[in-house]
Amino acid sequence: MDHRRRRVVAGTAGAAAAATFGWPLSGARAERNEQAGADPDVHIELRAVQERVALRPGAPTRVWRYRGSVLRGDAGTLEASSDTYLGPILRVRRGQRVRLDLVNELPEPTIVHWHGLHVPDTMDGHPRHAIAPGQRYVYEFTVRNRAGSYWFHPHPHGRTGAQVYFGLAGLFLVSDDEEAALGLPDGRYDLPLVLQDRSFDADNQFVYLESDLPGGVPADNLGRPPIGGPGMMGPGMMGGGMMGGGMGRGGMGGGMGSMMARMMGVLGDEILVNGRSSAILSVERRPYRLRVLNGSNTRIYKLAWHDGSPLVVIGSDGGLLAAPVRRDYVMLGPAERVDLWVDFARWSAGSELALQSLAFDGAMNMGGMMMGRSALPDGAAFRVLALRVGDGPQGSQETAPPRRLSDLPPADPRAAINFDHPKVFELTMQRMAWGINGRTFEMLGVTPYETVRLGTHELWEFRNDATTGMMGMAMPHAMHVHGVQFRVVGRSVSGGFPDYRDSVAAGFVDEGWKDTVLVMPGERVRILVHFADYPGLFLYHCHMLEHEDGGMMRNYRVMA
Ligand code: C2O
Ligand code: CU
Ligand code: CU
Repeated sequence: MDHRRRRVVAGTAGAAAAATFGWPLSGARAERNEQAGADPDVHIELRAVQERVALRPGAPTRVWRYRGSVLRGDAGTLEASSDTYLGPILRVRRGQRVRLDLVNELPEPTIVHWHGLHVPDTMDGHPRHAIAPGQRYVYEFTVRNRAGSYWFHPHPHGRTGAQVYFGLAGLFLVSDDEEAALGLPDGRYDLPLVLQDRSFDADNQFVYLESDLPGGVPADNLGRPPIGGPGMMGPGMMGGGMMGGGMGRGGMGGGMGSMMARMMGVLGDEILVNGRSSAILSVERRPYRLRVLNGSNTRIYKLAWHDGSPLVVIGSDGGLLAAPVRRDYVMLGPAERVDLWVDFARWSAGSELALQSLAFDGAMNMGGMMMGRSALPDGAAFRVLALRVGDGPQGSQETAPPRRLSDLPPADPRAAINFDHPKVFELTMQRMAWGINGRTFEMLGVTPYETVRLGTHELWEFRNDATTGMMGMAMPHAMHVHGVQFRVVGRSVSGGFPDYRDSVAAGFVDEGWKDTVLVMPGERVRILVHFADYPGLFLYHCHMLEHEDGGMMRNYRVMA
């Protein structure tokens, strides 16, 4: 297909989209009522920019990243990360009123989504709010979430996978009084670990999908026009595009491999922690809090200590659990978080440890063909992070975390108005396109089935058994609901599904508040969702970003 022609077509589609939805200059306008014009406690400007970062010896890597500055309020709200592409860490307290200005300095539309935060729909970063290059989107909301590890990343339709892969992501850490009273490890003993996989070409450039130039229009093998904005083709991006020269090194070097990766998901062959490769972390013989985020596009981790020591889990997506739980390993799908307590006094000074991802089955039943696209298939074993235990009182005893962590009410499915008839969401693949109940994403489309009433609870069940008969198309999905935290109230397997479960089932952390849940092939996961406070149009989707970009995403509407 003629490249130029496709770009023109995309430009037209973008213009049409702009006309239909309007590019909001300020999302804050809709929020005047709630905010009552009060000044924010913190005002941050977040720019999405193109940069070069020295990630490995040799040529710097061209990346897209968030750069932040505090315009008002506590300067400690932002912690910039050096020598990586990751965005700054934002630290806020529950109850704070924040204003965040997104400035788009990329050559294509973007929008920021605050993953896990409970905010009004105009503040949520829905793709209908994507802004064109040069524009600004103003977010203003009060942080209502409990203490926890949330994060932010782009959400323009069809381009989320690419923009995250090129580097756009950051942590949004919320603290509150309940958490502070526990005296958990803080400061440098409170360590975020953002796990991502990337492939580099010989020139140190990220390899995403072939013919996918950052700033260009993705080749859409699924046959739908990409949603883009006007002016997304920066002329400067044409020749010396970021990925120029590196093309074709990753994956199978052919149209088929690229098409399959675009559909099934992109895996990198190198694991980066906090945006750095071959990370070695020096730790002291004392307790730490490790906040682990799976920020990968598609990869699932089966986290474990190298020596089989149990992982002590104190929190998940939506903050602290009621009490610590112990797991031999923890399954972490894309966008999921887990908060670990570890006292390195367990090991002697000078020892070398590793956080690993263990082998597991059920990742991708595509046989050799899919495996060919990455040197590191999903479900393979690898080391995530090496640690070196330094000083600390010799002979000191390993300490345990607080026995009670938080006031977490038990989930009561009977609160749901559809207790007797949970809504079923089948994860589907039809005509080579991902979908939910057979429908792919429509920018403003929402069905009556996807409409809920403000203030009610509902039971939703994600079923990952629709693709069973489809010759190996069965694969895990990481289902995410915007704007809420939910509870997992059931996980079951539909009849006759394979034995892979033995290698994953003990690793789910379904106890706490969640916003993303891994649904393995054949599984049915039931969640209890409360649609409180905010009417409007929100998303739910698979957080394997190529599935999301490929249509496994839908709107739900909260009716006042
Ligand atoms: Cu982190 Cu719509 O997602
Ligand atoms: Cu989200
Ligand atoms: Cu998926």
